[in-house]
Amino acid sequence: MPSTPSLNDLRQQQQLAFLAQKTELRIGHAHACPLPPEHLAELDEHASEVTAVLESGLTARVFQLKLAGADYALKKARPNCLVQNLDGQTSFLNELQRRAEIDALRQRHGGFSGIVPTLYGSLAQGIILSPWLSGGTLQDWDERKLIQLFASGAELCRHGLFEWDFCPGNLIDDGRQLWLFDFGYMYRFDPLTQFNSAGQGNDVPEHHLAERIETRAYFAWLLEQEQTRGQDSALAAFRLEKEIAIEAYRKLRLELGADGANGDVLGWLDGLGQQWRQALRGDGEALYWQEGWRSHRLDLDDDIRGQTCTPRTLARCDWMLNALQGNFDALRSSGALAHETIRPERGALLDHYRRLRSQAEDFQIA
Ligand SMILES: Nc1ncnc2c1ncn2[C@@H]1O[C@H](COP(=O)(O)OP(=O)(O)O)[C@@H](O)[C@H]1O
Ligand SMILES: [Mg+2]
Repeated sequence: MPSTPSLNDLRQQQQLAFLAQKTELRIGHAHACPLPPEHLAELDEHASEVTAVLESGLTARVFQLKLAGADYALKKARPNCLVQNLDGQTSFLNELQRRAEIDALRQRHGGFSGIVPTLYGSLAQGIILSPWLSGGTLQDWDERKLIQLFASGAELCRHGLFEWDFCPGNLIDDGRQLWLFDFGYMYRFDPLTQFNSAGQGNDVPEHHLAERIETRAYFAWLLEQEQTRGQDSALAAFRLEKEIAIEAYRKLRLELGADGANGDVLGWLDGLGQQWRQALRGDGEALYWQEGWRSHRLDLDDDIRGQTCTPRTLARCDWMLNALQGNFDALRSSGALAHETIRPERGALLDHYRRLRSQAEDFQIA
C-alpha cells in the first residue's frame, strides 16, 4: 500500500503545479505602489532609487529603496534559489501565499503587530514590496525581544501558520518591536488537530515554536554567551527564555482550547509546559543539555540538507563534540541522546559528528 503523502509532499505538489501553470499571484494594487510595478521589477543595483542591496538572502535579493522620502524593502526572487531543494524552489511562491493569508487575517482580526505588511507582491514579476524596517537583523537577545517573538510566533500558530526559520537574518529589531518579514519557510497546518506542518501534522511532536526559536537562533546565541560570558550567564539566559516560553504556551493553550483544539494538541502543550516548569524548579541544567543538544543537532541537519553551512554550523558541531568529550554523562542522563539514530555511545557519536563536521566544511556557502 502506498504510504500517505506528508503535508510537505502535498504542499510541494500543489506549489509545483501552481508554478507550472504560470498562474499569477498578486497582493495589493498597482496604484498603491510608490512606483509602477513594471518599473519596480526592472530596478537593479544601479538605479538611483536603490540605496542599498542585501545579498545575504538565499531566495531573494533585497533592495532598500528611497521613494518620495520613505524607505521600502523590495524583495526580488533570485532566478535560481541558492537552497538546493524543492522547498527552496517553492519558497518565493510560498512567501507570497503566506503574506496574502496574513494580510487577510490582519484585516479580519487585527493583530500581527510584529509582522511586516505587504504593500505589493507579484509572482509573475518576482517582487515583493514592504516598508523598510530599521535597526538591522538581530544581534543580541533580551527579555522584550523574546516576549515579542514568542507572541508573534504563537499568534501565527494559533492561525495555522508554522514558521520554521527564525534564524537571526530573518528577525529585525527596531529598538521597540521585533519584526518577522521572511515567510519562505512558513507552512500551513491545522492548529486544532495538528502540532506543526511536519509529517502528517501529528506524528512529529518534537517541533514546536520554542523548539524552532531555540534551534534556529537562541542556542547559537547561548553558545556565544557560554564563550564570552560563561556558563552561568548562558544558563540564566536560558531560564529567562524558558519562562517566557511557558507563559506563551499557557496563553496559546487557552486560546486553542477556546477555539476547539482536540485533547492531543492541548495535552501536548500542557505536557511541554509542565516539563519546563519542573526543570526550572531545579537548576535547569539537565534541560539546558537536552534542548541545547537537540537544537544544535537539528540545525546541523537543516544546514547539511540544504547545503547551506556557515562558520556557525561548525561552531555548533564543535559544541556537540565538546559536550560528548567533556560532559557525556550529563548529556546521557539528561535524555539528550534519546533521539540519536546511532548507538548512544561516546565513541560512535564522536565518529558520527566528526564526519558531519567535515561535510559541513564541504558545504560552506560562499
Ligand atoms: N522589510 C525589510 N526591512 C529591512 N530589511 C529587510 C526587509 N526585508 C528583508 N530585509 C533584509 O534582507 C535580508 C534578506 O531578506 P529575506 O526576506 O530574509 O530573504 P531570503 O528569503 O532570501 O532569506 C534580510 O536578512 C534583511 O537583512
Ligand atoms: Mg531570510
